[in-house]
This record gives sequence, C-alpha cells and structure tokens, in this order.
Amino acid sequence: MEIIVSAPGKLMLMGEHAVVYGYPSIVTAIDQRLKLRARVLEKKVFELYAPDVEIINYSKSILAVGKCEVPKGAKFVELALVNFLNKYPVKEGVRIETVSAFKAMFGFGSSSAIVACTIKALCVLFGVKLSNKELFNLAYQTVLDVQGVGSGFDIAAAIYGGTLYYVYPGKIIRPINTKALGIVVGYSGVKADTAIIVKRVAEESKSFPIVYKSIYAEIGQLIPLARKALVSGKVKEIGQLMNINQGYLESLGVGTSKLSQMIYACREAGAWGAKISGAGGGDCMFSVCSDKDRLNVEQAIKKAGGEVIKVGIGAEGVRLEND
Ligand code: PMV
Repeated sequence: MEIIVSAPGKLMLMGEHAVVYGYPSIVTAIDQRLKLRARVLEKKVFELYAPDVEIINYSKSILAVGKCEVPKGAKFVELALVNFLNKYPVKEGVRIETVSAFKAMFGFGSSSAIVACTIKALCVLFGVKLSNKELFNLAYQTVLDVQGVGSGFDIAAAIYGGTLYYVYPGKIIRPINTKALGIVVGYSGVKADTAIIVKRVAEESKSFPIVYKSIYAEIGQLIPLARKALVSGKVKEIGQLMNINQGYLESLGVGTSKLSQMIYACREAGAWGAKISGAGGGDCMFSVCSDKDRLNVEQAIKKAGGEVIKVGIGAEGVRLEND
C-alpha cells in the first residue's frame, strides 16, 4: 500500500517571541502544502528520497535509525521515525518520498509540515490511531530533538489546521472561528534563522530582564483582544492590534530596515495593519487590508523591494490524500 499525506505551512499572526515565555499566540495554517508519499517495505530498512533537501537514495537499517551521523536534510524525518518507533515498534521497514514542498526560505514551517506528515504517514501505514494531541506530542518532541528550541506553534498549525489560539507547549490549542480576513504576505528576500534569533533575544534580555518580561506580558495582553476581533470580524481592530504588536517586536530588536520599509509601505497604501510574521530578522511580513486596497498594498510591497506571496489562511491540517 502506498499513501500520500499532506500538511499545511503556517503564518504566525500575533504573539511571536512572547509565546516562548508562556504567553498566548495566534497562528494560522496556510494553503501551501507539503506532500509526501510513503509505503511499507518488507525488509527492515528505512529509505528516504527528499531531493528538495538534497537527500537522494538514503537508506539504512531500521535498527540504525537515529544512530550514527544523520545528514541535515534527513534529520526531521528520521527523528520523527525514531520517536514513532520508540512508542510503536514495527516489524517491517518504510520508504518515504517528498512529493512536493514549499520553499523553505519563506519561513512557512516546512520542517514542522514534514514532521507532521511523517508521523501521520507512519500512523496510517502501521494502523496506529492517534488523536491530534498525541500526534502533536510526538511531532513536537521531534522538533525539539532536532533544533532544541521552539514553542511548537508551527507543529500545531500543521496538525490541527485552521486558525489557532496557541499556548506553549501545546497547553492550549483551540480553533478560532475567524471571519474572512484579507491578508497580503510579503517576503523580505532574507532567510532568517529562528533558533538563532530566539537565542539572541534571550541573551539580550539578560541585561534588562524586567523590561523584557513586561514587553512579553504586553504582547500577551494583545492576544485575547485580537482573538475577539478575529471572531467578530473587526478588521480595523485587528490591524491596530497588529501595529501595536509590531512596535513591541521592534523593541525586542527583531526588525530589519527592509521589513520596516515593507510594513510602512503597506500602511501608507491603506492597509489596516502590518507586522512581521515569526521570529523577524528576515522572512515574511503580512498586512491586513480591504479588497479595494489589496492591489495598492501588493504594489507597495513590491516597490519596497519585497516579493508578494499569495497565500490563503485557515487551511486544513495534516491529512491523508488518497483514501
Ligand atoms: O520564524 P518562525 O515563523 O518560525 O516563528 C518563530 C516564532 C517564535 O515565537 C519567535 C519562536 C517560536 O518557536 O515560537
């Protein structure tokens, strides 16, 4: 039996950085999906084919997974397999192939999507029934094993889909019933390294811990207000709260002049709000605006040197494609 599973990427709407310190955040799954194909092998081997991360014809004994040097491109899939096998040992082997991937450079969470897909695929292949929370726990453990830091919001988006109110480390994962929201995403052209930025902010906070704590708390205060505004479709309020959130992100030192130029360009083109999405230091920003202003906002991003990326929000979580 060969199966195909897919999982969505994510966009952090509000609450980044503060979420690492226990404050709530809002994340949405986007309609860019990562797909992989998987099948059981009679021989006890693990095979991986993921050309997008330069893994071609990778093969090892199932007994050796997670051991020896694991190439960078294979880490997320292989450690997901290790975590799965630790709980649910199997007699056979498995082959996993990436069918399509979205560009890792945008920061849409390709690693989380691949981990979510891998664990979902293993569950389907070996007849293990897990709730979303159990899937989340295995996937989040994998991400921590590979990169050591991360609040897990991206894993939640990949598994649950939709738009979520998320509290680290998966303490609360609740859907938000958003009214339609027009967003425009702009890529800054710079690939950011989330783990490095999170560590840098943590390091810098040591000089003025009280100040940083109160910034996180202020960001945290915005989230219930933004959730309410999302549910009632109060788009102008959402925009205003995003702008306030952006101010706090600037105060954490994670902005860049390019991101700021794009953000101001959107606001000047009529957007209700614009902010960084994610760790900062590069990757993407997004804005919310009316349909009538969309074209102007898109042009403003381009004029500021950014790339407009079309994404829809609130996409479905990890799923089997060939039932
Ligand atoms: O850069 P992204 O999109 O992976 O988002 C990072 C968000 C942080 O809050 C800074 C870190 C985290 O794991 O929540």
